Formats: sequence, structure tokens, C-alpha cells
Amino acid sequence: MRKALYALRRRLKLQLSCLKRRIVKPALPKNSDGKVLIHIGCGTTNSPEFINIDARPLAHVHIATSEITSLADFGSGTVDLVYMCHVLEHIKKGDLTKVLFEMKRVLKDGGVLRISVPDFDKLIEVYNASGKDTTAISNQLMGGQDHQYNIHYGIFNQRRLSELLNEVGFREVVSWDPDNCQYHDFKDRASRRMKVDGREIMISLNLEAIK
Ligand SMILES: C[S@@+](CC[C@H](N)C(=O)[O-])C[C@H]1O[C@@H](n2cnc3c(N)ncnc32)[C@H](O)[C@@H]1O
Repeated sequence: MRKALYALRRRLKLQLSCLKRRIVKPALPKNSDGKVLIHIGCGTTNSPEFINIDARPLAHVHIATSEITSLADFGSGTVDLVYMCHVLEHIKKGDLTKVLFEMKRVLKDGGVLRISVPDFDKLIEVYNASGKDTTAISNQLMGGQDHQYNIHYGIFNQRRLSELLNEVGFREVVSWDPDNCQYHDFKDRASRRMKVDGREIMISLNLEAIK
């Protein structure tokens, strides 16, 4: 009952947010350092330095689109940082490299693609620590499935994501720390931890790479 009420409240809040955007469109940020930062699949996160992009037209979303294989609003080589947190797993297998190539197209030379995804290796750790309870990892593995854009199509670990980034031509793939990182002064799924069997397991794989 409490869970259902929470879900209803959340749904209403999101609907209200979408309604607000229909009335007032958010203004694009202008950063004092001149940097262009884009946040793809921002969800409810609204960091004022970022141009927010999401399939759901929430109040703070500047560009509402699910077609992220083509970011027509951005010219080639115009963006300093592309940030995607727990979004890549929502992309169908056939579109995955197209999305990464598109991120590379919009980035300036030397620009950064910063990614966070559920780490399959960590989910296995959670699964084992839970006594092989599949429900412990189902949301992280398959998405919450509470709206049309909350379904997962892909799984990643450090090896797979690094391979993909290299295949597309990114270089210098390294980990980034959500608690100590430029342009990341907000809390999102990049620092998500799961409590299981008295342990806290950090379940996100956070990698960034340079164009
Ligand atoms: C799991 S949420 C992550 C939200 C936020 N980044 C965070 O870490 O808390 C995934 C977000 O990606 C958005 N999304 C999913 N597929 C998308 C697509 N093809 N294009 C744009 N946004 C998408 C969803 O609407 C949702 O807001």
C-alpha cells in the first residue's frame, strides 16, 4: 500500500513537471567558462550547467527526444562534455554504436564522454550475496519497467564498455569518481549502492573517454 502510494505520488509529480514544460520552456544554460555540457537521459536531475536531454519532457528538459542516434540540435565538434548516467543500457543493441558515434560527432577534439551504467560484474556480486535472489537485481538488470523508456536492452562490464568505446574511436578510457569529479556536483545513479547481507555494494560502472 505504501509502495503504491509512493509510486502514485511520483507519477503525479512527473506529470505535473511535464505540464509545466508545456507552459514554460526552460532557457538554455550559458556557462561562464564557455563550456557546452550536455546531459543525456537526465531524468529528474537538473544541473544548471547542463543542457538537459531526455525522452520524457520534464520541466527542466531543454531537448525532449528519444532519438539520440541523431542529435540534430548540435553541430559537429561543438560540445565539451557529454554525460550519460544509466542510459546506455536503455539503448537497443542495433543502435548502441550509432549512439556512441553520434556522441563522438558532437564532441570537440579533446572533449569527454562520461558514462555510468549498471556494472554486470557488481550485479553478480549482489546476486550471490543475496543468496541468488533474482529479484535483488531485476530492476538493475532489466529496468524498472514503470514507463516506456525504463526498459534495459544491454548489459555492460568494464571490459565490454571499454571495448565499445575503443571500437568507436574514443581514447584514454578511465574510471571516474562521482564524489570527486568536475561538473558532477549532484547525486545520481553513478553513486548508487545496494545493501545486501550487511554489505554495501557500489553497482555502477563509471568510465569516461576522450575524443
Ligand atoms: C534510469 S534513468 C537515469 C536518470 C538519471 N540519469 C539518473 O542517473 O538518475 C534513465 C533516463 O533515461 C531516459 N531515456 C531512456 N531512453 C532514452 C532515449 N532513447 N533517449 C533519451 N532518454 C532516454 C529515461 O527517460 C530516464 O529519464
